[in-house]
Amino acid sequence: YDDLLTLYYGNRLIGNNFELFEGQRYNDLSERRMREKQSFSFIGGGDVREPSIIIKNFDGSFVNKFKYTKSYLEKKYMPNTFLPYAKDSLTSLVSEYYDEESEIIYRRIYSVFKDSDIIAVNCEIENFSNHAIHVLSASSVTLDLEGTDYDLTTFSGAWGRERWRTTNKIKNGIFINDSKTGSSSPYRNPFIMLKRNGIGNSFYAFNLIYSGSHKESVEQFSYNNTRVNVGINDFCFDYILSCGETFILPQALMIYSESENDITKQMHYFVNNNIIPCAKRGCPRPIVYNSWESVYFNFTEDKLIGLAEKAKALGIELFVLDDGWFRDDDKSNLGDWNVCKSKFKNGLADFAKRIHGLGLKFGLWFEPESISEKSELYNSHPDYAMVVPRKTPIRIRNQLLLDLTNDSVTEYLYGIISDIVEKVKLDYIKWDFNRYMTDRYSPVCCNNGEYEYRYYCGLYKLLKKITDRFPNLIIESCASGGSRFDLGMLSFSSYIWCSDNTDARERIFIQEGTLCGYPQSVLSAHVSASPNHQTGNKTSIENRFNIAAVGCLGYELDFDKCSETELDGIKRQIAFYKRYIELLQFGEFLKIGSAYEDDLFGYMTVSDNKRTAICVVIKLCDCGELGINDFPFRFAGLSPNIEYNVCIRNQVNKEKISGFRAYGQDLCSYGVKIGKLLKETDRENNSNSIRSVIFVFESIECLPSDEKKR
Ligand code: DGJ
Repeated sequence: YDDLLTLYYGNRLIGNNFELFEGQRYNDLSERRMREKQSFSFIGGGDVREPSIIIKNFDGSFVNKFKYTKSYLEKKYMPNTFLPYAKDSLTSLVSEYYDEESEIIYRRIYSVFKDSDIIAVNCEIENFSNHAIHVLSASSVTLDLEGTDYDLTTFSGAWGRERWRTTNKIKNGIFINDSKTGSSSPYRNPFIMLKRNGIGNSFYAFNLIYSGSHKESVEQFSYNNTRVNVGINDFCFDYILSCGETFILPQALMIYSESENDITKQMHYFVNNNIIPCAKRGCPRPIVYNSWESVYFNFTEDKLIGLAEKAKALGIELFVLDDGWFRDDDKSNLGDWNVCKSKFKNGLADFAKRIHGLGLKFGLWFEPESISEKSELYNSHPDYAMVVPRKTPIRIRNQLLLDLTNDSVTEYLYGIISDIVEKVKLDYIKWDFNRYMTDRYSPVCCNNGEYEYRYYCGLYKLLKKITDRFPNLIIESCASGGSRFDLGMLSFSSYIWCSDNTDARERIFIQEGTLCGYPQSVLSAHVSASPNHQTGNKTSIENRFNIAAVGCLGYELDFDKCSETELDGIKRQIAFYKRYIELLQFGEFLKIGSAYEDDLFGYMTVSDNKRTAICVVIKLCDCGELGINDFPFRFAGLSPNIEYNVCIRNQVNKEKISGFRAYGQDLCSYGVKIGKLLKETDRENNSNSIRSVIFVFESIECLPSDEKKR
């Protein structure tokens, strides 16, 4: 039939008896195309479900006649593109289809990786004809599944409540999880998970290595089958593929597993090892002080130096000067990147020298992709802004975006950013993006249907040039908080600011959702002020820390307004975090219960050899003391035969709790009674009713010798 079926996607098979796959085959082509599991579907092939691609041909038709031609293995597949793709693939299986009448090749590439069950999928469309064709839609993965009883989990929300976990039952029809904002968006993240109900435990998860508008569709069809398509959004999409040109789609990831915890584990491993920049692999993220929620736009150099001195004394490693170093409000100057002389009379390099002199690393905030109309750049280059001539653009936060499809714009940004990195000796950049795309247009990118795709090629090219030149520069990605939390941005950065909502209770849900598909090492989490600036809720400094410690720790509050007790607490928190930094950022993450379903739950992180582990146990006690029963809390992931020394992190306002010993088996089967412990945690200033404690497990043999004797 000249096609290629995905006969099976699941656990590894060990035999090679292909008779297992024999069964009913459909003689009618259209029946076969709709009932059997296709890996590639197109209009004109007899399948009426959502296709993998839609092409408008030279003859005006949407009809293609692709026939499978060949498959071959390729070592280290490297697509010829600026789009990022997973690093260090081992082998790729390339399958080709040819449409003889239209002279188009469609290539699907499945790549595999060391120590990972994830499969990365690429697609290429190559036009061999003498005419241009229009690619109107193109998914990176099409996966046909058996059965129709599936639950789809997506991670959706908005600014300040990003990536909340939501599960929907798939019904007959098409469920679409997408973004049309020109970014992966806070509304719907490209990471999705499907669970098959009824027969066994089957979980499938997908993600896309791309930061622009995306689309994941799950179609329940009428022949007891379900189709998943994952790729760039076809919204306003029309790619003109000229003769001889190849169109390369963003790479997608897919994984099958028998448990959700394993999906999370595999995704975490893959992001840490195959997505983030090689120079940053396994490197602990430094403990940050960020000026934003502490001083916003209102600061003097002396105030900052005072904060930096305190930060250093508390154990902080990196001082980040957020927005405000080049302006006094959010109405102007984006694009110029000239330091505000009234704030830094001796310039930025001098200020950086003072910070470095304190023994801290120094980082700066940028929003490279944006431009203010009140700026020198706009005055000299209005053509650099993303606007449609003669149409009033939508302004968000008083700003426009830059046209990154234009090489002159990316060259300008590369020049100005690298100049500052070099002169100021920056160790870190916060790469912010505070608006979405509304007025997509460019005088240089003539075909508007390619706009977003070319914008992201421009952005990735820029990020690659910067990271190639400064491999040790730490980049923290941000987009009004977590509005662009995706594998595309992570290909160039160490981590992403998870959300502008720093309220500890709200953060629990945002972080738990995020951690389903992204590891602790890329989740940036700061302790901020109480009452919280976004919600007005009050929580103790210890709760704020316990929740931030699930990710990469930072502080974003005015130390000058903290009490001595709080500062003392912070100092001890940082020392604790530093002691276990590798475990906290790179350990195997396990959820015990869930904030979405239980009022008592925990986040466990376990070392590879299981000799050390940490568990943040949280109780959301909306009915106060009454809600706390003294039932044992059961841990997970510990080795049954290891005897652990169990300690509780010493918190402010709490009696010191001495450690005890117990076997992993007992800690995971019976657990530990924690009602009393939770009652003892700081009750003051706790309007959002969180109680939390951190348990530390260290195998007896691992302890320093004096502790062993005890
Ligand atoms: C939005 C970010 O999410 C904040 O952390 C801060 O950097 C502001 N932008 C600064 O304008």
